[in-house]
Amino acid sequence: MNAQQVTLPQNLDNLTKLLATTGLTNQQQKYLRDFINRYSDRTKTSKQISQSSRPFLADDKNLGEFNLLFKEMYYPIVANRSCGSKIWDVDGNEYVDVMMGLGINLFGHNPSFIKDALITQLDKGIQIGPQSELVGEVAELVSQLTGMERVCFSNTGTEAVMSAIRIARAVTGRNKIVIFSGSYHGHFDGTLIKANKAENNYSALPLAPGVIPNFVNDVLVLDYGNPESLEIIKTHQQELAAVLVVPVQTSRPALQPKEFLHQLRELTQAFNIALIFDEMVTGFRILPGGAQAYFGVKADIATYGKIVGGGIPIGVIAGKSKYMDAIDGGMWNYGDDSYPQTQKTFFAGTFCKHPLAMTAAKAVLKYLQSEGPSLHQKLNERTTQFVIALNNYFAAEGLPLQMANFGSLFGSASLELSEGNSAASVAMGLLKYHLLDKGVHLLGVSGYLSTAHTDEDINYILQAVKDSVEQLRSGGFLPPRASV
Ligand SMILES: Cc1ncc(COP(=O)(O)O)c(C=O)c1O
Repeated sequence: MNAQQVTLPQNLDNLTKLLATTGLTNQQQKYLRDFINRYSDRTKTSKQISQSSRPFLADDKNLGEFNLLFKEMYYPIVANRSCGSKIWDVDGNEYVDVMMGLGINLFGHNPSFIKDALITQLDKGIQIGPQSELVGEVAELVSQLTGMERVCFSNTGTEAVMSAIRIARAVTGRNKIVIFSGSYHGHFDGTLIKANKAENNYSALPLAPGVIPNFVNDVLVLDYGNPESLEIIKTHQQELAAVLVVPVQTSRPALQPKEFLHQLRELTQAFNIALIFDEMVTGFRILPGGAQAYFGVKADIATYGKIVGGGIPIGVIAGKSKYMDAIDGGMWNYGDDSYPQTQKTFFAGTFCKHPLAMTAAKAVLKYLQSEGPSLHQKLNERTTQFVIALNNYFAAEGLPLQMANFGSLFGSASLELSEGNSAASVAMGLLKYHLLDKGVHLLGVSGYLSTAHTDEDINYILQAVKDSVEQLRSGGFLPPRASV
């Protein structure tokens, strides 16, 4: 069955019935029904594709929580092509994209320096098994840009984090690790763990069904940026293999606890605990040397991905030789009596060091090197100005919304707005759909700017936000502007 064969229900009787049960006012119900109708029509091919593939495709990626209220709009925009700051969907709608490949596309979509390198590699073939001729060079480039001593490659960020934890456990001979609430480290069972708030003793719980409690036993989930967490780490010092930290969390970009990170570094150093920076989002974004360079904190191991893969799946584990030698036994030379002496752990993967990933990574790293720090300075400053403009507007309008940014990552400064089903979170959910309707492609209320975004793009987004707010007001979903 293809998209054209699926007929979507034309009448919205069910929606009308559903809306009548929600407690929304008549004005809100009418507005929502009209909006959903318009949105579904504008993106009808995306909706049809979603419906026709659902029997076979198990997928809820990038959609957020299912909300019955928004059921008729619960489908991803299906992309047809992209270039620079823009994507075009299968209905021919153009969007200024701020989802940016979930943080991959620092240089916009399909930049020619990556595309050309990939085409050249495709002409040469995809040799998996023999070593890619670029591996050593890419490792050296990562080392030069991040200051990490040794480097190895996986296929995703999840694998990189999983391997970094295994390395830390192997080298320290300890089992427990610390992670922090609000940090996402990918979908390895060993980090799909949340704080057990009911117990209030820093014990943890599986984040989802299927994560077995045994995975949880060796994980402490602490408050990020809270000095009390440092005390807890002290109490568990003899048992801890690693403290795993996302230096600035995507869900809380306003929280940038420099002092806390420095204290964490001192503490972990003193107790011989591996400090692992998960730089999947911050790496190569805030500065070429990532959050470590920005905060002036040197981790023992860092994990990277996203930007460095230039659009091709990649994970990078980099760190001090003390830890990374657990991958290969350490440095040795031909022609003398040296040999790999360090005890190894297990590390593997059919697709690791994939020639396309190595090619794209080399292009990205060389480009960053040749552009120098001004690339990041300009982009970070641009994003800061964008966020200031948004915040000025929200403040002037008396809207309870505040944004923050860390380099080119921006998002809501407060967590509460994006959680639950309060009036504010319904308005936030609707704001997302209104922005999509106006041609701004985004995930939630967070996103990324890239070097491809122009002033025109940024003004377009700002205007789309303003127009959306006005419409939400007209529908009774936001309070009217306070009169001065
Ligand atoms: C901080 C962090 N760590 C790890 C991951 C997992 O990376 P991947 O999705 O490539 O497995 C992500 C993904 O968003 C992330 O943001």
